Amino acid sequence: MTDPLIDPFRRRISYLRVSVTDRCDMRCLYCMAEDMVFLPRSEVLSLEELERLCKGFIATGVRRLRITGGEPLLRRGIDDFLSALGSWIGRAEGPGLDELTLTTNGSQLALHADALAAAGIKRINVSLDTLDPARFSTITRTGKLQATLDGITAARESGLAVRVNTVAMREVNEDEFDDLIAWCGAIGADLCLIETMPMGEVGENRVDRYLPLSLVRSRLAHRWTLEETRYETGGPARYVHVRETGRRLGFITPMTHGFCESCNRVRMTCTGKLYLCLGHEDYVDLKQVLRSGTDETRLIEAIRAAIGIKPKGHEFDLVSTSGTAGNPARHMSITGG
Ligand code: GTP
Ligand code: 5AD
Ligand code: SF4
Repeated sequence: MTDPLIDPFRRRISYLRVSVTDRCDMRCLYCMAEDMVFLPRSEVLSLEELERLCKGFIATGVRRLRITGGEPLLRRGIDDFLSALGSWIGRAEGPGLDELTLTTNGSQLALHADALAAAGIKRINVSLDTLDPARFSTITRTGKLQATLDGITAARESGLAVRVNTVAMREVNEDEFDDLIAWCGAIGADLCLIETMPMGEVGENRVDRYLPLSLVRSRLAHRWTLEETRYETGGPARYVHVRETGRRLGFITPMTHGFCESCNRVRMTCTGKLYLCLGHEDYVDLKQVLRSGTDETRLIEAIRAAIGIKPKGHEFDLVSTSGTAGNPARHMSITGG
């Protein structure tokens, strides 16, 4: 039996988020700058290298993997990568995965939904901030609503449980949450509202768009019966059950209500940087470890040492610019959340 990964604040690290590309076919207002410069391809690890790193984490006791981007389904070879990782799910003895999941913008989902299900993925999160085509174009700058809707339909048909992720933005989509709750209910999906986090310069003032979810929740309670539920995924979302739709509604509230004390996760980028916290710039370069001809034992040692510097939590500060106070200069798309 391997020793569990425990950080300096006695939190057990059992969940790894892996960004397989920083590229995306959308440029969401809260995530990227319009003229985003992507990483040179020469710096990006091969999928074989990323798989080797994932295996290192599985060997140290990580039980859940979430694949992210940028947009993960844009990465060539992604279906085989997921299939390889999926073979670790439910192994009876020794290291293995309890769950493999994915977060996507849905644009390519119709092409991949069957492959995801075949890889053993049971639930996915799909970003969707509005049901209005013109508004979708404004928020994503380059996205097409219909492609994401088709992706969600295909995912449901392939048997995948879908949670829609909606970033709550003042005066952008705050009038649509009732419609989104009803729509998710009709298609059999959960919904999760997210407070915007100050990651990277995006070319607009985040304070103007910030909407505290405590306020949203009390507004929603006028129209919907929100019942407490004990459901949780080990992630930051806190869920209620919406009686009228029979679906869950989640709230991710990094700005109004912290959840760092129960953090179970770390995140790896497509260049092999291991970020110990979403809200901090400190990382450990696992690419260097991997490419120095190291064996699995050395890799595992490096992972264990990295967990030893995981900070207590984020200190996001909406009024300060990125790169100052507790706001990382890197964009959300580098780690995919
Ligand atoms: P599960 O926990 O696996 O259910 O999913 P998730 O909610 O973590 O995944 P998803 O990729 O859908 O992320 C939704 C939002 O949660 C994104 O805005 C992420 O940035 C945010 N998020 C996920 N983990 C953390 C975390 O540890 N800290 C903070 N501050 N935000 C997080
Ligand atoms: N704040 C909060 N959530 C964000 N996401 C992207 N950028 C931000 C941000 N600045 C969300 C996306 C996606 C998830 C991975 O992170 O909408 O659903
Ligand atoms: Fe792309 Fe996701 Fe960022 Fe939008 S939030 S630009 S879909 S990576």
